[in-house]
Amino acid sequence: MSSLAVQFDAWIRGQFVDINDKLEHLYWQQQDKANVEGVGEALKIQLQEEGNRLIQALLEEGNTDEGFDQAFDLLGNVGLFMAACRRHEITEPSREQASPLKQASALAMHIGASLGVTPRFATAHLTTHNRAVNGVYKRFTSHPAERLFIDYNTQAILAYKRASESLMKVHHLGISHPMSLVLLKQVKQALLEVIESNRALFNALDAEAFFYVVRPYYKPYRVGKEVYRGANAGDFAGINVIDMMLGLCPANDISYGQMLVEKFLFMMPEDQATLRECMRTPNLMDAFLAALNTPKREWFAPAANLFVQVCKLHGDTAIQHHNQLVEKYIAKPSQAMQQQHLSKVTASGPPLEVLLQQLADLRDRRAAANRDDIFTRYNDLKRLREALGEQNDNL
Ligand code: HEM
Repeated sequence: MSSLAVQFDAWIRGQFVDINDKLEHLYWQQQDKANVEGVGEALKIQLQEEGNRLIQALLEEGNTDEGFDQAFDLLGNVGLFMAACRRHEITEPSREQASPLKQASALAMHIGASLGVTPRFATAHLTTHNRAVNGVYKRFTSHPAERLFIDYNTQAILAYKRASESLMKVHHLGISHPMSLVLLKQVKQALLEVIESNRALFNALDAEAFFYVVRPYYKPYRVGKEVYRGANAGDFAGINVIDMMLGLCPANDISYGQMLVEKFLFMMPEDQATLRECMRTPNLMDAFLAALNTPKREWFAPAANLFVQVCKLHGDTAIQHHNQLVEKYIAKPSQAMQQQHLSKVTASGPPLEVLLQQLADLRDRRAAANRDDIFTRYNDLKRLREALGEQNDNL
C-alpha cells in the first residue's frame, strides 16, 4: 500500500468513525431521529474537508499498481467516505445532477472500472473482504448495532458460500455419485448455520438503532453523474448459485434474470465468474425429476431425500429473511416514520411496497410456494416427495 493509501486507511479506521459517531449522537437526541438537516454542521464540514484532502493526494499520486487487493480495498475506503457523506446529506442524489465529491468520484471511477466492479463500496468491503487490524475491522461507526449487523451478515454470507461451493461440486460428480451424499449433507449443514445466524441476529439487533444509525449508510449515492444503488448482504454469487443449482429460480425468468444482470458489478470479479458458470449449468432439480423416469436405483432415495431437505432449508432462510429481518427492521419502522423521509428508506431505490413485493416473490420462489402468478417448483417438489413416499412405502 502506498503511504498515502495507508494514511487514508488510518483516517477511515480512526477519525472518520469518530466524526460519524458524534453526528449519530446528535441525530439520536432529536424528536425526529431521521432528521439530519441543520445538525452538526461543523462536523460535516470537517468530514468533507479531511476526506477530500486525503483523496486529492491519492488522485494526484495516480495508479501505483499494487495489485487487485490493494486497489479493491482503496475503492472501499473511498466508498465508505462517499456513503457517509450521503448519510449526512452532504450529498443527496435527488438534489444534484452530479456528485459534488469530484475527487472521490474520479478516484472511485478509475479504480472501479479498472477492476470490473461498481465504483462504489459494496458488501464485500464491509464483510468478506474487510481486514481487521488488531481485532477491529472497518466500520462507519462504533455503534454496537452496526458491529452486530456486519458480524452476522458476514457469518451468513460465508455459510451460504460454503453451501454453494458444495452444490457446484455435486454437478460435476452427478447426483448418483456416492460423494454427492456427502456434499448434500455439507449444504444442509451450511444452510442450518445461515438459519442459526439469522435467528441470532433477529434476537439481538435493536430495531431502532438499526433503522436510524446503521441502515442510512447503505443508501444509493452518486459517483460522478450516475446513481448507484445501495449495498446489500445479497451482493455475492453464492445465494444465486444455490437458487439456480437447486433449480428453484431459473436464470431465464424475466424478473430473476433482471436481478442477476443488475447485480453482477456489485460482486467481486471471482463471484461474477462463478455466477456466469452457474448460469450455464443444468440444475439438480431437473436431474432428480429425470431420474424418476428411469428404473429406480439404490442411490435415489437417500440422495433425493437430502435434496428435498436442502430445498426446504433454502426456502426457510428466505422466509426468515423476509418475514423476520425485512419485516422487523425495514417494513415496520418505515410505517412509523414521518412521511417526508419515506422516499429514502430502501437501499435500492424503488418505492418500499414495490421492493417488498419483489422480495416476497423471491422468497416464494426459494420456498417453492404454491403460486400461480409466478414460476415456482411447488409441483415438481411435490412429485419428488410423493415418489420418495412411494419408494419408502415399498421398502
Ligand atoms: C436484500 C434487508 C440481513 C441476504 C435485502 C433487501 C432488504 C434487506 C431491504 C432489499 C435490497 C435493498 O433494499 O436494496 C435486510 C435486513 C437485514 C438483512 C433488514 C438484517 C437486519 C441479511 C442477511 C443476509 C441477507 C444476514 C444473508 C446473507 C440478502 C440477499 C438480498 C438481500 C441475498 C438480495 C435479494 C435476494 O437475493 O434475496 N435485504 N437484510 N440479508 N439481503 Fe438482506
